[in-house]
Amino acid sequence: MPTQPTLEQIVSLAKRRGFVYPTSDIYGGLANSYDYGPMGTELLRNIRDLWWKYFITARPDMVGLQSQILQHPRTWIASGHVDAFNDPLVEDLVNHKRYRADHIIEEWLEKKAEKLGLEMLIVEDMDIKEMAAFIVKHKIISPDGNKLSEPKEFSLLFETQIGSVAGDKSTVYMRGETAQGIFTNFKNVLDSTRVQLPFGIGNLGTSFRNEVTTGQFVFRTLEFEQAEIEYFFDPEKEDWQDLMTTWKEQMWAFATQELGVSEENLRWRQHTDKERSFYSLDTWDLDYKYPFGHKELWGIAYRTDYDLKQHQKFSGKSMEYTDPHTNKKFIPHVIEPAGGVSRFFLMTLCDAYWEDKENNRTVLKLQPSLAPYKAAIFPLAKNKPELVAQAKEIFEELSQKYHVAWDERSSIGKRYLYQDEIGTPYCITVDYDTLEDGTVTIRDRDTTDQTRVKIEELAQYLEQRI
Ligand code: GAP
Repeated sequence: MPTQPTLEQIVSLAKRRGFVYPTSDIYGGLANSYDYGPMGTELLRNIRDLWWKYFITARPDMVGLQSQILQHPRTWIASGHVDAFNDPLVEDLVNHKRYRADHIIEEWLEKKAEKLGLEMLIVEDMDIKEMAAFIVKHKIISPDGNKLSEPKEFSLLFETQIGSVAGDKSTVYMRGETAQGIFTNFKNVLDSTRVQLPFGIGNLGTSFRNEVTTGQFVFRTLEFEQAEIEYFFDPEKEDWQDLMTTWKEQMWAFATQELGVSEENLRWRQHTDKERSFYSLDTWDLDYKYPFGHKELWGIAYRTDYDLKQHQKFSGKSMEYTDPHTNKKFIPHVIEPAGGVSRFFLMTLCDAYWEDKENNRTVLKLQPSLAPYKAAIFPLAKNKPELVAQAKEIFEELSQKYHVAWDERSSIGKRYLYQDEIGTPYCITVDYDTLEDGTVTIRDRDTTDQTRVKIEELAQYLEQRI
């Protein structure tokens, strides 16, 4: 059975086997930034494709969109990000390292609360003044043992300048979420497609946040990929609570069935009234049990008609929908399931990680649909041209349909161990018997069982299992 790994085990496997590298590694890295290696790129692509298929192409009530990272700056004023997309920041007064005040308090509570007989507080419920008072009252210090500054609001939005205009007008923001590109294109989608309420728009792409908390690997990065949906509906016709329940069931099913994650590592958590954003009437987080505790994987919020109304106000353009049956004009409401692809990625790595003590190996028990390679093809020996030629033929045929690996280096045992660590479900070996009877050995990643299968039945064998 897969075991709960430590973050160190995941980081080590991810680097060793080409899933994730620290960004600018040769220059000493860049805080909260990671590059995806050959295996990580394939795993990310598989997750993204599954999400797109499950939530967009397999549904008649959904369409996709790809909006820009740089948008008109008024987008972010209308959405509230320029004024209120902040984290509470404290600074170590000696070495000037910065931390999230809520994270510093959370860590302090985890270590001290029980010992001091204090109740575990929900830190999200504290406002910045309460955090300041808490830090002073409990004399909380920085991880390096120094005094901390008073918490200050720190904007998560990255600013940049565009070249074609001078002065203030050139300031633009790198998008802090993909959702706003959906709202600003709402009318375009209405006018150019045949959608009718209720319907949803999905947007998948890179967002940026100036995160200061380090040490959570790809869970919290400056640049990350979001997979967001805005599901528009008429509140007089649909019950938002029913819609919320259905979407929550679909998110759970995607995580457990499509990504193959164990149910016991997932839980729903409802935001408290104090924690919830002011525009949302109800918000839930789907938390996964990462090596550093239960943390948000995916959020779902009932944002009412707040965003479309804000864009109507700031742009002066109507965001109304006209009901084709009654001609009623109104601004639709939305339910927003908002996920992060890199958090899905880290979850699938953690959940699939298995130290198989009996066989002295590390295995990634990834769902075959997620595995970077679906099978690996080995000629028993690389200096036997007839074995290599036969294996190449198999590679060429299977690679028409699947991403398959080729490996002729070192012993078969070592090749198996490598493929186990990158999650390849099947290894196919061409040996001397192949030349005699046209069969190959297929070795199963999870059981290590080996069976012989005829070459002409290989494609069917994989099709039944992948
Ligand atoms: N439009 C709503 C929104 O953006 P959010 O909870 O701030 O909501 C949605 O973000 C999802 O994006 C989160 O559930 C998480 O999976 C992902 N996410 C947010 N910040 C992230 C970061 N710094 N690094 C990686 N993923 C992040």
